Amino acid sequence: MKAFLVVGNLKMNLLTEAEGERYLGELKKAAYGKHLSGVQGVIAPPFIHLYRFAHLPTHFHLGAQDMHWEKSGAATGSISSSMLKHAGVEYVLLGHSERRSTLGETDALVRAKVDAALRENLVPIVCLGETREERERDTTTTVIARQLEATFAGLSLLQAEKVIVAYEPRWAISTSGTGLIPSTTDIFQVKVFIRKWFTEHFDAKLAERVRVLYGGSVNSIHLGSLSWEAEMDGVLVGKESLFPRELVKMMEMAERHIQSLA
Ligand code: 13P
Repeated sequence: MKAFLVVGNLKMNLLTEAEGERYLGELKKAAYGKHLSGVQGVIAPPFIHLYRFAHLPTHFHLGAQDMHWEKSGAATGSISSSMLKHAGVEYVLLGHSERRSTLGETDALVRAKVDAALRENLVPIVCLGETREERERDTTTTVIARQLEATFAGLSLLQAEKVIVAYEPRWAISTSGTGLIPSTTDIFQVKVFIRKWFTEHFDAKLAERVRVLYGGSVNSIHLGSLSWEAEMDGVLVGKESLFPRELVKMMEMAERHIQSLA
């Protein structure tokens, strides 16, 4: 069985070297001595902290928040898949809604990045989800189908299985200011739709295997209802991931849940 993933997207935070060090110190303290057999953590710090975060505590893996689709060359201000690989990165977030909405990232661009990540043996975590208006117009599944199509069309079964999907309804992200979070049923319906999409476009086995995470205002209070109760395979955490103790607490809660099923 694949581990339940708890991914911390630290976004554009930890502004100084000292803040980066403090975060790491707190994470190490919080994670010390924890035995988690069914849960895995991923920390995606800002690029500038990647080398500092190279040695994470047990159960944690290094992630990045984005990358360029080319390996090297004339791309001012960008970080390539190859650079990430050399820095020890294993997972990379792609197509985060904050990049889609403020930096104009298109489905096609995200797809080019997915291909580049797979070539470099990085695990892409592709973020998708609808805006509030799209949900109100009842077009959630149309939007998700379009994003899935753009991400997966033409991939082999083997490649598709390596990609992780993160369903992040844009209106539920804490900084969206709506204060809203989806119900377990809302999330479960999207999970069912994603599974059906994979069954139709690949096969039922892959539909079971592809990991689907939930992201948007996840904290330890709502963890269960936003993830395992909706049959999600993990969570993508923004704001709360800035508190290492909270992140580890969520991992322990997931572990207890998994053990209760055994
Ligand atoms: P919040 O957990 O702050 O809502 O952020 C979600 C997110 O965007 C993670 O990628």
